[in-house]
This record gives sequence, structure tokens and C-alpha cells, in this order.
Amino acid sequence: MSTPKRILVLHGPNLNLLGRREPGIYGTTTLAEIDQRLRELAAAHGYEVITAQSNHEGELIDLIQRYGWEVAGIVLNPGALTHYSIALRDAVAAVPAPTVEVHLSNIHAREPFRHHSVIAPVAVGQICGFGPMSYELALSYLIRRAEGAEK
Ligand code: DQA
Repeated sequence: MSTPKRILVLHGPNLNLLGRREPGIYGTTTLAEIDQRLRELAAAHGYEVITAQSNHEGELIDLIQRYGWEVAGIVLNPGALTHYSIALRDAVAAVPAPTVEVHLSNIHAREPFRHHSVIAPVAVGQICGFGPMSYELALSYLIRRAEGAEK
């Protein structure tokens, strides 16, 4: 069976507020603008992105369960769930699709409670600190990985 040419992009709690949420930390780019860039980047490589945002842990888990066997990879910004959601971590670990954890801000340069990620050990990697480009880097990696160029 050939690798599905679809990538799931998930945004966790409060990321719907991007553009007007703490712009000094998260910038002024909106979530719709980020998703649009990702759609264009994916399309340039013959891929499609499925994007979703939820403020609810269970909804994010449902989406990972639903698409985790169908997509070539998952770009996940878990928001604050990064730091404590074992249930989200277990969902990431349960599915075969490789997940890249992303953050707009550099979580390691912020408050100590943001330094620890419970998701990172089950992700293929973590990209943080590059603003919206964190997502683009993660998507590029997952496409190259799916095409067999990276492992
Ligand atoms: C974030 C970092 C998290 O610590 C925070 O709770 C967020 C956003 C980021 O993208 O920088 O909601 O995931």
C-alpha cells in the first residue's frame, strides 16, 4: 500500500487566539494564515493537510485516533497540554503516524513549567522557537520522511 499523501496538523488549546494572544510571545500571524501557508507548502509537494484546532484534550485525542492510521505524519502543537497531558501522549504513542511536536515560542527559554514536555519522548522530534516557521519546518520534514528521503 502506498503512503497516504496527507498530513494532519493539530493545534491545541488557545491557539485559536493567535494574532491577538500575547503577540509579544506568539506574534501577529493568525491561525488561519498559518494553516494557509501549510496548505500551500504541502500542495507544492503533492500533499494535502487536514487542519484542526481544539481547546479540548479529548477532541484532539479523537482526531489522532481517527487519522493516525491514515496520514503520513502529524504536526502537533499541543499548547499547554504539552506539559501535562499523559492522555495526549498515549494517543501519539498509539498510532503509527510519526508526530512532530511544534511550538511557536522557545519553551526552553520561558517559565520552568514549560521546559518539560510529556509529548517529546513519543514524538520523532520537537521544533520550537521559530514562530509560524516551526510548523513549516515540521511539515517539510514529514513530507521528506514520507517520500523516503529522511528517516
Ligand atoms: C505553545 C507553548 C505552550 O507552553 C503554551 O501553553 C501554548 C503555546 C507555543 O506554541 O509556543 O499554548 O505551545
